[in-house]
Amino acid sequence: MTRVWATGDYPAFADRLIGGLGEILVEHAGIRAGERVLDVGAGAGNASLPAAARGADVTASDITPELLAEAARRAAAAGLELRVQEADAQALPFGDASFDVAMSCVGAIFAPTQADVASELARVLRPGGRLAMLNWRPTGRWGRFGEALRPFQPPHVTGSDPPEAWGDEAHVRGLFGDRLRDLRFTPGVWRFEGFADAHELLAFFRAVNGPLITLYERIGEDRAPELDAALLNAFGDPPFDSDYMLVAGVRPP
Ligand SMILES: C[S@@+](CC[C@H](N)C(=O)[O-])C[C@H]1O[C@@H](n2cnc3c(N)ncnc32)[C@H](O)[C@@H]1O
Repeated sequence: MTRVWATGDYPAFADRLIGGLGEILVEHAGIRAGERVLDVGAGAGNASLPAAARGADVTASDITPELLAEAARRAAAAGLELRVQEADAQALPFGDASFDVAMSCVGAIFAPTQADVASELARVLRPGGRLAMLNWRPTGRWGRFGEALRPFQPPHVTGSDPPEAWGDEAHVRGLFGDRLRDLRFTPGVWRFEGFADAHELLAFFRAVNGPLITLYERIGEDRAPELDAALLNAFGDPPFDSDYMLVAGVRPP
């Protein structure tokens, strides 16, 4: 899994395609100066950096050390304090009740065992601490993209719920159970800008997106045209609008 996200150029992917999502999440989470914030699946710091810019005490965690190194480099370049910690979202290396806010911007959704992720996110929050997630939904272009990938994915991936299930309210309520209260769901739409057509968008994905590059390697050249066709069909025509869900909740006292 670590290798998958280090393949290609994830920072370039995030900068061009989803650079604004981190700020949307931080704003929605209402992060304030001095709060202890954990970012799970932080990547190159898309949400960690705007949280640190608000004066929060931020720990960027991710399973991919190469991306954390880039987050640290970006923080230093911007004159921001940022702690980085290699961590699997399914078994976080932090004590119970260590953070005021646990957040994840399309990050923790990619860990396969979703029940473990939900349990860990709640565990590291102090009583009264806040969860904030921005998750892709099963609808919209990203949802269609995820669905198109599934017939080509190995059984250990298709045996788990898809990442986009984190954008479904009933599913997320089921994952957290009574570990969180006041769960709130706010849908939004994010547009992939600057691509003339689906071919351009697919070429960009194939050039920089590690999980997709790895999948094409796995299926081999013979099946590549079939996957191309499925993804072009999923992307459709511009505008490329992707549905997301902001999830907020509070750890009970
Ligand atoms: C789509 S990227 C999002 C990164 C960042 N939050 C952003 O908004 O750009 C998904 C991230 O989740 C990380 N990831 C995947 N599986 C993980 C796991 N089991 N535990 C922690 N991080 C994981 C990847 O390394 C990658 O950085």
